Amino acid sequence: MSNAAVRTAIFPVAGLGTRFLPATKAVPKELLPVIDTPLIQYAIDEARAAGIERMIFVSHPSKSSIERHVRHDADLGHALRQKGKGKIADKLERDALDDENQEFVFVMQDKPLGLGHAVNCAAKHVLPGAVAVILPDDLILGERGCLSEMVEAYETSKTGHMVATMEVSREAVSSYGVLDAHGSDGKVIYAAGMVEKPAPEKAPSRHAVVGRYILDASIFGDLDALEPGAGGEYQLTDAIAAGIGRLGLAGFKFSGRRFDCGSKQGMLAATLFVARQDPEYAEVLEEFGAVEYGQRVAAE
Ligand code: UTP
Repeated sequence: MSNAAVRTAIFPVAGLGTRFLPATKAVPKELLPVIDTPLIQYAIDEARAAGIERMIFVSHPSKSSIERHVRHDADLGHALRQKGKGKIADKLERDALDDENQEFVFVMQDKPLGLGHAVNCAAKHVLPGAVAVILPDDLILGERGCLSEMVEAYETSKTGHMVATMEVSREAVSSYGVLDAHGSDGKVIYAAGMVEKPAPEKAPSRHAVVGRYILDASIFGDLDALEPGAGGEYQLTDAIAAGIGRLGLAGFKFSGRRFDCGSKQGMLAATLFVARQDPEYAEVLEEFGAVEYGQRVAAE
């Protein structure tokens, strides 16, 4: 058994994905691809790179194709090999999660009662220690995975809860949870609290929280005690706030670039960003006048 501080990652994937309808009527948002790689695969790769041993997917019965994606598919592998497509068969095999060693678990959230409720659905299956939460529609691309950077910082920071943060403009703060920051140490920002979607003039900082969390195991007690919050949903941020006095809260300024792939604009930006890194797409980008824009995105 490993002694790592963070061994479990929870992927809440039960939401309705209304911002991406009609694409998400029959296809889960988490399977929408950036070119050829579904968002959920990026999230799995990030968790693996961070040394996560168990991945818990909190899904919905109507989204069973997510499970089909993560499982090894021997028939498909066999059919591909017979067609001489061994390279892609090898890749699919490497990407698939290991069922026998319980590398993954699926639990169902029958009603989308909020992110806090979704995370609590995973409670029975977590390994000892702190847990990571990854929202797959927040795609973070960089040289190192965001979760790898966070796990490293978490092990030395001595705060109970850590959230990924990025600096946004004052006008943009009202779309995010924002840290009430009171000091920093390198990439770690110490916070006294978190404010959900503040008006720009009332925002305590411009450090916006995005979809990566490392949470002390006591989060599950705080989730059990939670009352419905904004929108009548069980809010993860309310449970995090309940533990701040006991555990402390830190933000982490990750080095990659984040794309909100739950929105059409974010998905388009991510697609252009990834396409720019591969000469295979140069002609298409040029033909549709995306080169200049793509270069700007890549340079920022
Ligand atoms: P979002 O609010 O971005 O996802 O939740 P959504 O509700 O699916 O999308 P829109 O806003 O209607 O377009 C962030 C993440 O939390 C999950 C979602 O699947 C998404 O990955 N989630 C949200 C749950 O698993 N359960 C919930 O009750 C709410």
